[in-house]
Amino acid sequence: MADTLANLLSETRQFPPPDELAANANVKAEAYDRATEDRLGFWAEQAKRLHWNQEWSEVLDWSNPPFAKWFIGGQLNVAYNCVDRHVEAGRGSKVAIYWEGEPAGDTREITYADLQQLVNQAANALTDLGVSAGDRVAIYLPMIPEAVVAMLACARLGATHSVVFGGFSVEALSGRIDDANAKVVITADGGYRRGKPSALKPTVDEAAERCPSVEKVLVVRRTGEDVAWTEGRDVWWHETVERADTAHTAQPFDAENPLFILYTSGTTAKPKGILHTSGGYLTQASWTYNAVFDLKPDTDVYWCTADIGWVTGHSYIVYGPLSNGATQVIYEGTPDTPHRGRFWEIVDKYKVTLLYTAPTAIRTFMKWGDDIPAKFDLSSLRLIGSVGEPINPEAWIWYRKNIGGDRTPVVDTWWQTETGAIMISPLPGVTSAKPGSAMTPLPGISADVVDDEAKSVPAGGGGFLVIREPWPSMLRTIWGDDQRFIDTYWSRFGAGAGNGDEWIYFAGDGAKRDDDGHLWLLGRVDDVMLVSGHNISTTEVESALVSHPKVAEAAVVGATDPTTTQAVVAFVILRGGVDDGDELAQELRNHVAKTIGPIAKPRQIMVVPELPKTRSGKIMRRLLRDVAENRSLGDVTTLQDSSVMDLISDGMKTGK
Ligand code: WT7
Repeated sequence: MADTLANLLSETRQFPPPDELAANANVKAEAYDRATEDRLGFWAEQAKRLHWNQEWSEVLDWSNPPFAKWFIGGQLNVAYNCVDRHVEAGRGSKVAIYWEGEPAGDTREITYADLQQLVNQAANALTDLGVSAGDRVAIYLPMIPEAVVAMLACARLGATHSVVFGGFSVEALSGRIDDANAKVVITADGGYRRGKPSALKPTVDEAAERCPSVEKVLVVRRTGEDVAWTEGRDVWWHETVERADTAHTAQPFDAENPLFILYTSGTTAKPKGILHTSGGYLTQASWTYNAVFDLKPDTDVYWCTADIGWVTGHSYIVYGPLSNGATQVIYEGTPDTPHRGRFWEIVDKYKVTLLYTAPTAIRTFMKWGDDIPAKFDLSSLRLIGSVGEPINPEAWIWYRKNIGGDRTPVVDTWWQTETGAIMISPLPGVTSAKPGSAMTPLPGISADVVDDEAKSVPAGGGGFLVIREPWPSMLRTIWGDDQRFIDTYWSRFGAGAGNGDEWIYFAGDGAKRDDDGHLWLLGRVDDVMLVSGHNISTTEVESALVSHPKVAEAAVVGATDPTTTQAVVAFVILRGGVDDGDELAQELRNHVAKTIGPIAKPRQIMVVPELPKTRSGKIMRRLLRDVAENRSLGDVTTLQDSSVMDLISDGMKTGK
């Protein structure tokens, strides 16, 4: 990938932390030195932020790589750490969750003392349904407080939860239930989607029929719509959990007790059940939350807009914030219901101070126009974060200016379902952030950018993002498939590839290191294009397009080309109010040539109304490649909205 370097973006803007934030930051620059000096000692110190019933005897056991064990012999209860200890410390009346339902006016306020009772009741009810330590429980719920309660109740019992996003189909749900052999499924009659009830129970009914492991289905009544009922199998939440005893004694479990399985979407192959365990996971989720969001538990109101069905919801709605005793907003609905200002209305209403969202949402807000957030008072915000994809520098700047009032730090956080917690990110009180760069690995994380031979690339170089040393919240394996775990993550470089004895984790992303040593994520390596012998990253061309004032969002693919091997084909969404004039495509092509170099000039630019995205908001470039190469479309089942592809293909035919 070295030859992308000539094309690197020349982003020179830099934003130092506000003085006050820097002076009072939870984590200061010394943390980097401390962790470099003694990485395991550093993590042991962070683990002490938690309550352990039994201290560990060894921090890391790496004697059987790539299978890591952290905090050997240590015992803790994850739910106790997220709930009970705050109550015991006298903070029971502090609000844990401000829940904002999709239907206007449908809200709930849950204190830590309330949460303790709810989790205890759910733990007692699940015990009655036959769940005990080591069992798997599938959770298929909308964004309602019961989703958090259900996860914590499993954790409290030492059972392993597998949350399946509420938008997934029967196929996806039954495949996941089956793979994990889940005994109980927790669901609801339905949820609200864009102002209307949308049923969930029928999907579970169909899935359960295909999955002999399912003994019980626990159903939350949310919409009140009629549901089919299987006697002996189905039980109502309000008739069991809500009638259960509010007292429950938490047992300690081993640090390596499986906490959850979360399936990564996987575009074609069978989804991978990413397994996370307890002590190391909670240590890193908890510490990174404290460090990256700089939480001040007495004054901050935090809001992460992710769904609980993704790892962001696990680590930065449930385990990170609650283990730190945070007060947070949880919102059930979409950003445009009932109007496009809903997010900003919520920030204003709850005086949110810390906001965590995704580039796909940010670019949508850019497209909707600056005037929408401008109508609301967002002055409570003091820090804003991004996760999920590379954030284009212009989207970063837009976010800081229009949401952060040109005042707040922006933390661009790189991590994966597999890494369990944030790995690369600015520290808001330390780092002078550059728009579009995730900056540096957090203390205790040895991320590196390497060439084909696993040698670190020098400043100014580009290559593959790897992690050289195990980290506490790393995935432990792929559920039921150790070999696939080794093949997928550990066989590209180092010992797993037969080179030397260092085990090196390959994240699948490309990255570059700039002249100051800061990291820029370039997207999945599968998305890199080969044009006339040059490697060009889709992310860089997309960022160049988004830096044009008329463009809100762009997706770029490499399409087969008889002369150049691949040619750059771009799909763009224009900003609100911009006309798609005849000259526009040429103007954008020239803009890319000027920003990156003539080699990156798109062969074709298509103005489209929407882009195909997965339900977690990632652009499905595979489908755009099918369009660009005039092929019939591949598997579209993970698409959020399948009609999008018709809109795009129609646009192609009319030559728009
Ligand atoms: C992939 C992991 C981590 C929670 C949500 C996604 C991409 C994620 C960033 C970022 C550039 C990013 C990577 C990564 N990604 N965050 N800040 N900058 N790319 O979890 O679904 O497991 O996806 O998302 O490509 O490998 P996931």
